[in-house]
Amino acid sequence: MAIERTLTIVKPDGVAKNLTGAILARLEAAGLRIVALKRLRLTRAQAEGFYSVHRERGFFADLVRFMTEGPVVTAVLEGEDAIARLRALMGATDPAKAAAGTLRKDYAENIERNVIHGSDGPETARFEIGFFFSGAEML
Ligand code: RTP
Ligand code: MG
Repeated sequence: MAIERTLTIVKPDGVAKNLTGAILARLEAAGLRIVALKRLRLTRAQAEGFYSVHRERGFFADLVRFMTEGPVVTAVLEGEDAIARLRALMGATDPAKAAAGTLRKDYAENIERNVIHGSDGPETARFEIGFFFSGAEML
């Protein structure tokens, strides 16, 4: 297993419910280290660019509206096997299908408003980290 970096976002629903600290604490408790962190409100163009892989999907317009409805908190996480470990801690996209003890099982409302994003592979992680952070912001 290698030390990896991955990107997470506490989505607008998680920030609005004041769950940012609770969510990040769960990631830290599981051994992931926050090596960069910021709070921002995505523009429509940023949300469309970030999720451009989904632009042909039926849920895309709703997803962009959701991701821009309020501020998000995004972080770069570092650790052993960080990409897969973050995905496991998040749980399935649809909270109804998420395993017990996962963040989405505990906090998500539905398949869209599911409190957290995580990169789904090494290439995605590289793209998504670069989308939000410069090298000087990640130490
Ligand atoms: P994410 O990219 O945010 O970490 O989520 P994911 O990999 O588990 O799921 P993905 O298929 O990449 O979908 C991205 C986000 O789009 C919203 N979504 N809505 N209404 C729907 O059927 C639907 N499906 C997906 C969710 O916010 C999902 O996390
Ligand atoms: Mg995804």
